[in-house]
Amino acid sequence: MHKIAVIPGDGVGPEVTGAAWNVLEALEVDLDYDYAPAGEQCFQERGTTIPTETIELARKADATLFGAVTTVPGQKSAIITLRKELDLYANLRPIKSYPGIDSFYSDLNFLIVRENTEGLYSGMEYYTEEGAQAIRVITRKASRRICEFAFKQAIKFDFNLITAVHKANVLKKTDGIFKDVFYEVAQQHGHIKTEDLYVDAVAMFMVTQPQRFQVIVTTNLFGDILSDEGAGLVGGLGMVPSANIGDENALFEPVHGSAPDIASKGIANPTAMLLSSVLMLQHFGEDFEACRLEGAIRNVLKEGKVVTPDLGGQSSTREMAREVKNKIDS
Ligand code: NAI
Ligand code: MG
Repeated sequence: MHKIAVIPGDGVGPEVTGAAWNVLEALEVDLDYDYAPAGEQCFQERGTTIPTETIELARKADATLFGAVTTVPGQKSAIITLRKELDLYANLRPIKSYPGIDSFYSDLNFLIVRENTEGLYSGMEYYTEEGAQAIRVITRKASRRICEFAFKQAIKFDFNLITAVHKANVLKKTDGIFKDVFYEVAQQHGHIKTEDLYVDAVAMFMVTQPQRFQVIVTTNLFGDILSDEGAGLVGGLGMVPSANIGDENALFEPVHGSAPDIASKGIANPTAMLLSSVLMLQHFGEDFEACRLEGAIRNVLKEGKVVTPDLGGQSSTREMAREVKNKIDS
């Protein structure tokens, strides 16, 4: 049995998490749910965007399913707090084409592995007399664990090329270390091909020949930007899942936010959340059930009959989720 902390959040968050656990019920996997609040509504009710009990529930759970939260200005971000508290150092974003989706390419399948704890997002940003400055922190320890993680993912999902992405020609010291550590880790995995490329070149190749990529491993800011570029290649925000993984905990969430413009209309696309659930099942080693769920999602997208308005359909979140559920055993 796997214990799951569900944090529905705000806006479309509860709608898509509701859809996901409805579908997960149809699988042969024993999941036990506990709910916890976070986000804007939680702030209005309890004066905090992320109560300590929510963090502790996520810490004790085998995995957390996170919907989306609305940012409350001046308050700490629930998701960033969870990433820090649980040391979720790897941010994983599969960039995968699905049939029936209006997108630039129909044959993509690669993985972006982003370092999630340091780099330019280490929180050290200061005003100076002339303006402001931010400090870009790169440690050998964090570089090593993210590179090791990338190789493990490559082995798990049968990829045989890993591309380290950096800008070591300009950022000679910080990205010099990242690149060196990458090749040190690579020596322990001789059977996997490796290369390193500058981030600006990668931004271009992702548009012109994204099929060349299998696993990309990179630092925080570059990974943030490239993974949104990747989302744009395969159908946009309603489609892309993500995983935040540490040594002790893991959290799965759609890439999109709380989408206030469509919230409570019941038309949010549940695919990103459902594919995040696929990542969760893979994380548990429930590969067969993960395949069943992903296959059902793929069939619904391919038929294109029961899909939400953002995919050109007229169905609601619930109807689309129900269709996925029906397809699981068909
Ligand atoms: P957003 O991702 O919520 O929405 C951007 C656009 O994509 C909107 O037009 C929305 O309708 C559409 N969209 C998003 N998810 C969709 C879905 N499942 N199905 C169909 N269409 C979908 O980003 P936005 O508008 O910039 O942010 C809204 C709020 O969410 C803000 O408060 C923001 O800070 C927060 N946010 C939270 C995140 C998280 O919880 N991890 C991530 C990104 C934003
Ligand atoms: Mg981003």
